[in-house]
Amino acid sequence: MKNLLFTLLLIGVCLAPAQQNQPGDLTGNWAVRNINDKEGTVRSTYFNLKQEAGKISGTIRTTQFFYTIKESTGGAEGFTLIAAMQDGHSERRVQYEGKLVGEELRITFRRRPDAPLTELVAKRAPAGEGALPARIEPPARHAVAYNGLAKTPPMGWNSWNKFAGRVDDATVRGIADAMASNGMREAGYVYINIDDTWEGARNAAGEIQTNKKFPDMKALADYVHKKGLKLGIYSSPGPNTCAGYEGSYGHEEQDAMTYAKWGIDYLKYDWCGARTLYTDEEMPAIYQKMGDALLKTGRPIVYSLCQYGRLDVWKWGAEVGGNLWRTTGDIRDAWDSMTRIGFSQHELAPFAKPGHWNDPDMLEIGNGGMTGTEYKTHMSLWAMLAAPLLAGNDLRQMTPETLAILTNREVIAVDQDKLGKQGSRVWKSGEQEIWTRQLSGGAMAVAFFNLAKDEAKISVKWADIGVSAKRKARDLWLHQSVDAKAPEYSVTIPAHGVVMLRVS
Ligand code: GLA
Repeated sequence: MKNLLFTLLLIGVCLAPAQQNQPGDLTGNWAVRNINDKEGTVRSTYFNLKQEAGKISGTIRTTQFFYTIKESTGGAEGFTLIAAMQDGHSERRVQYEGKLVGEELRITFRRRPDAPLTELVAKRAPAGEGALPARIEPPARHAVAYNGLAKTPPMGWNSWNKFAGRVDDATVRGIADAMASNGMREAGYVYINIDDTWEGARNAAGEIQTNKKFPDMKALADYVHKKGLKLGIYSSPGPNTCAGYEGSYGHEEQDAMTYAKWGIDYLKYDWCGARTLYTDEEMPAIYQKMGDALLKTGRPIVYSLCQYGRLDVWKWGAEVGGNLWRTTGDIRDAWDSMTRIGFSQHELAPFAKPGHWNDPDMLEIGNGGMTGTEYKTHMSLWAMLAAPLLAGNDLRQMTPETLAILTNREVIAVDQDKLGKQGSRVWKSGEQEIWTRQLSGGAMAVAFFNLAKDEAKISVKWADIGVSAKRKARDLWLHQSVDAKAPEYSVTIPAHGVVMLRVS
C-alpha cells in the first residue's frame, strides 16, 4: 500500500511537468498587471514565451505595441530578449533583461536608452489571454462627405499636455467653469477635450464604458453644454490607445453611436495601437471607417486625426472626413520642441482650408517650460499657421499673463480669419524669419520672429515680402498702430520673441 502510494506520487510528480511547466521553464503566457484603483482599470503587458533548445521565442504585447522576439540569450536564471515590430516604415526594437524567481518573472528594461531602469513583475496568466485580435481587412476607399464643421480652426482646451493620465470629471468641470468665466469662451474657445485615459472596459454588449474617473459622461457633457461649451473625447482605431487603454478597433460604429448618445462634439482619433495591425498605406481606409461612423450618427462631431503626419496626411485627411490632422509628433513644453514643430510647417500651407486644417499639436502656453516671450511666439506662430488653438494648461489657475496671451483677440482674429489661408515663411536670414498670412478683406498678417538668444533687428523692404504699398499697420501685441508708410521697415525683436502686425 505504502509502495503503491509512493509509486503513484512519483508518477504524479513525473506527469505534472507535462501538464504544467518544468521548474525553471519560461514557456507560457506571463502578465504584468498595472492596476489603477482610482480608475478601476487593469492594463496588462504580456510576455508570451516559448523556451526550447536554448532559445526563447514568442511575443510581447504592451500598451500600443506588439513585438516579436528576434534574439535571446540565457534562460530562467538570467536572460536577454531583443524584440522588434514593424511600425509604418520603421522598425521599433526593445530589449528586456529578466530572470525567473520562484513563480515570478522579474524583468527590467529602459523606456529610452537614457531612461532609468523600469522593473516589471510578471505572473503566469491563462494561455490566450491578451492575444492580439484578428486583423479586420480595411474597407474599400471612398470619399467621406464634409461634415460642415470647423470652418475656422477649432479652439478650446485639451487635457493631455498638463494632466495626461490625471484627468478626471472634476478637473474637466473645473476647466469648463474657468473657460466660461475668464473671458476665454467670449474670445472663441469652445471645445473641452478629454484626451486618453478616460476609457474603461467594454460591457457584455461590446459598449465602451468610462472608467471610475468619469462616472457619467452624459452628465458631464450636459454640464459642459450648459456652460455654452462643447465636449470632446479621444480614441484609437487600434485595439489600444497610446496609453494602453481600450481602443475602438472593431467597434467603430458602436463607439461613434455611444459618443453621440453621450453628447460628444469632437473626437481625436489617435493611430497608436493600430500600428500593430495595419501598415501606414492602410491609414486612409482605417480613418475613413471612423469618418463614416461619425457621419452616420447624425450628430455634428469634429473629427481630429492624430497619426503624427505620417503618409503625408495633409494630402488625404480631408477625403476621409478629417477636419484637422496632426502634422508632427508630440509637442513638449520646451522652446526647442515648439520651434522645431512650428517653423517646420511652411510647406504644408497649401493643404489647409476652411473645414480642414493642419494641426501642429496643442498649445503649451502657461505650462511653465517657456518664458512669457516664448509663449507669445508660440501663440503668434500658431495663429500664422491657422492652427487649432487648443490650450493645454490648467485654466483654473493661470497667471494674468498666460490668460492675456491666450485671449489676445487680435492674434486670435488672425488665427480665425475666415479666408482660411495658412501663412508661410517669406524671408529668412540666420535666426530671423518673416512669415506672412493672407487675410480676408485684402489684409495681411506679418510676423517677425527672432529665434536667437539675443535681441535682433530686422530691416526689410515691404515690396520684398509681398506687402503692397498703401499700408496701415497695427502691432497685435502692443495693440497700437505702427508707422509703416516708408518702403522699408525696421523692427527690434526680443530674444526668442516676435513682433506681429496686421497690415491693411
Ligand atoms: C499620443 C498623442 C498625444 C496624446 C497621447 C495620449 O502620444 O500624440 O497627443 O493624445 O497619445 O496617450
